Amino acid sequence: MTSSHDPAVLLGPASDRIRSAQDREALQALERDLLGKSGPVGQILASIPTLPGEERRAAGQRANELKRALEEALQVRRGELEAAALEAERSGAGFDPTLPPAPLERGGLHPVTLVVRDLEDLFTSMGYTVLDGPEVELDHYNFEALNIPKDHPARDAQDTFYCDPEGQLVLRTHTSPVQVRAMEHIVREKLGPPFRAIVPGKVFRNEAVDASHEHTFHQMEGLVVGKDVSVGHLIGAMKTLLRGVFGRDIEIRLRPGYFPFVEPGFELDARCPFCAGGCRVCKQSTWIELLPCGMVHPNVLKAGGIDPEQWSGFAFGLGLSRLVMLRYGIDDVRHLLSGDLRFLEQF
Ligand code: PHE
Repeated sequence: MTSSHDPAVLLGPASDRIRSAQDREALQALERDLLGKSGPVGQILASIPTLPGEERRAAGQRANELKRALEEALQVRRGELEAAALEAERSGAGFDPTLPPAPLERGGLHPVTLVVRDLEDLFTSMGYTVLDGPEVELDHYNFEALNIPKDHPARDAQDTFYCDPEGQLVLRTHTSPVQVRAMEHIVREKLGPPFRAIVPGKVFRNEAVDASHEHTFHQMEGLVVGKDVSVGHLIGAMKTLLRGVFGRDIEIRLRPGYFPFVEPGFELDARCPFCAGGCRVCKQSTWIELLPCGMVHPNVLKAGGIDPEQWSGFAFGLGLSRLVMLRYGIDDVRHLLSGDLRFLEQF
């Protein structure tokens, strides 16, 4: 065996070169040299064909041994250089460990969520339960049980999206279907009547979309069923609702309104909370149309399994999207579901 192919002899000078590499680039160049064809490992491998048969195996082993030793030395030096680089960065100019970290990005609540939470607080404090219902609803609950049979013209005012060929499943056009679901649930679970509930949620209509019409928007249904519930109770509850929303007493008026599931039915207007004598929001009328409401129709009580001879109730359908727009001065309903961060980050 020639001494020039002895791994121990070859490793010495190679290790010295590795230890004195000053940066990562130099070390990389060295690695290419040492492990490449013309490096010491390559030399041993190249010599194998010239060796007598019985020495070849040992030469191969020496080449592997040397390769492993070189790789280890390279790895050690790489670690040293990295540690030194980090240390230099830490102690170097321009590094100030007392600087505060970059601020964490925090999400916020959607304006509809903010208003829903306020209203839930207000109504639960008056003994109402918060209920939920399906957004994909049966025709039965969305229309039939609300006294709106198949051929009723009131269906035209709430054109919707049908989800099946038979027309039995619809995207609900209002939160009112939960009136009947609520009654059935309350009766089945023997929780009442009497009971009070609100139902905030998303509703859907086949609309020509513009600044004040959206195919998806939010409503909050209210339903109170009890003994001798009257229009007086309805007015009282609505005044409390407005006080909660606007922080002071607001004058209201009732106009007749037609909805097949209430009798009598009303449109409730509020004295415009934003002006004294006419503004853009109330279109100079000083009144804003705020919510439809009325006394629950006996047929609807019956559909929910409640005897209209013994019980009566009122219901209201608060336009949540509209209320959110009023509260925050939003001029286009389409902002609400746009997902546009420039809009959302303002809340
Ligand atoms: N559900 C009706 C609508 O969306 C509103 C309403 C609710 C009317 C409750 C009366 C009582 O148009």
